[in-house]
Amino acid sequence: MIAQFNIPPTVICGTGAFSQLAAQAQRLGLTRVLLVTDAFMVKSGLGLRAEVNLREAGIASATFAGVQPDPSEQNVLDGLALYRESGAQGVVAVGGGSPIDCAKVIAMLATNPLPLRQYMGRNKVGQPGVPLIAIPTTAGTGSEVTKAAVITDPVNDVKMLLMDPRLVPTVALVDFELTMSMPAALTAAVGVDTLTHGIEAYVSRLASPMTDALALACIEKVGRHLETAWREPGDRDAREGMMLAATQGGMAFANSSVCLVHGMSRPVGALFHVPHGISNAMLLPAVTRYSLPGATARYATVARTLGWANAGASDAAAAAALVPGLEALNRRLEIPRLGAYPGLTESRFFQVADKMAGDALASGSPGNNPVVPDAAAIVALYRDAW
Ligand SMILES: NC(=O)c1ccc[n+]([C@@H]2O[C@H](COP(=O)([O-])OP(=O)(O)OC[C@H]3O[C@@H](n4cnc5c(N)ncnc54)[C@H](O)[C@@H]3O)[C@@H](O)[C@H]2O)c1
Ligand SMILES: [Fe+2]
Repeated sequence: MIAQFNIPPTVICGTGAFSQLAAQAQRLGLTRVLLVTDAFMVKSGLGLRAEVNLREAGIASATFAGVQPDPSEQNVLDGLALYRESGAQGVVAVGGGSPIDCAKVIAMLATNPLPLRQYMGRNKVGQPGVPLIAIPTTAGTGSEVTKAAVITDPVNDVKMLLMDPRLVPTVALVDFELTMSMPAALTAAVGVDTLTHGIEAYVSRLASPMTDALALACIEKVGRHLETAWREPGDRDAREGMMLAATQGGMAFANSSVCLVHGMSRPVGALFHVPHGISNAMLLPAVTRYSLPGATARYATVARTLGWANAGASDAAAAAALVPGLEALNRRLEIPRLGAYPGLTESRFFQVADKMAGDALASGSPGNNPVVPDAAAIVALYRDAW
């Protein structure tokens, strides 16, 4: 099998990596940038820190802080208008996956024509975008190193998935200190998203030796650090471990693929606004149970890597430990079942289950799962997870 591998040409990791922003913008020849972030980042002062860091190096910035969680097409268009108006030559994203995804698409649309929806799917971007520096503050989506962006189309209630090497940021500044302020519920949600990236990248039909190494490194760190980061938000070791896990998970899944969990999770986010990591977490046990027969040895390795099965356990025994382990992890992190999520009602949810199954299949992700489902199997899995 031939496997393509895309990551940013420059990834700077470690304490204080954030302070490299101006130096990196200078290196890229930028004198004016658009800063893409959200309201929390402005309130917390991180947006201002970025502006000051740039200004001290003589780089002007305009700030677009209007990104909503699960960014919409309108967020992208508003940011693009400010990009043009401000005369920027590049984009800086500071925030979780939402500001980073929005910034990726703004940077791409700066050199490619509208409408946005023509880029949905794989490898549809004609021209390289303008330079993009991505600085994650959650650990996380891994979006700082991926060629993926997820933008919500509110008219059709679909989370559009765009995948293209031309969406890979030019520079990623990966600084775990920016994640220290995450409250426990956010730490859990984004941490299980990271775990899902590691697992799906590893069991994907498109997995390769390059992605395997990164996926297992991600899974091992999540096993070691997620619960500590959740319980003790000030634990620097755990925060650093989870930040690296997120970045490695991103490098892995973007170059193999996410699979059925993400395929089923995006429609739940689009229609019911369940945060991405939470809907992944709620679907992960049921989808893993369904998928086990297609990749038993791989799932066994996942269980051993998480420390949930002994090194000497048979593949069947190790794989069997995985589903109860994932269910127990959700309970410990206080992530509810789908049916217990505030605001979700059974009748409304299953009224649209067929549409969600169709949208999941249309995204292409389920086609890379160890067991490939049809629409009826997906609806049955929503039922299992409920
Ligand atoms: N492009 C990719 O490769 C990729 C991968 C996975 C998920 N995603 C997408 O990313 C989005 C989710 O991103 P996310 O989970 O990082 O959350 P997010 O960016 O939507 O942020 C969630 C909330 O957390 C706040 N927040 C962010 N950093 C914080 C911090 N350090 N301290 C306190 N609060 C903080 C934000 O202000 C926001 O209110 C979804 O749209 C999802 O589909 C993209
Ligand atoms: Fe994800």
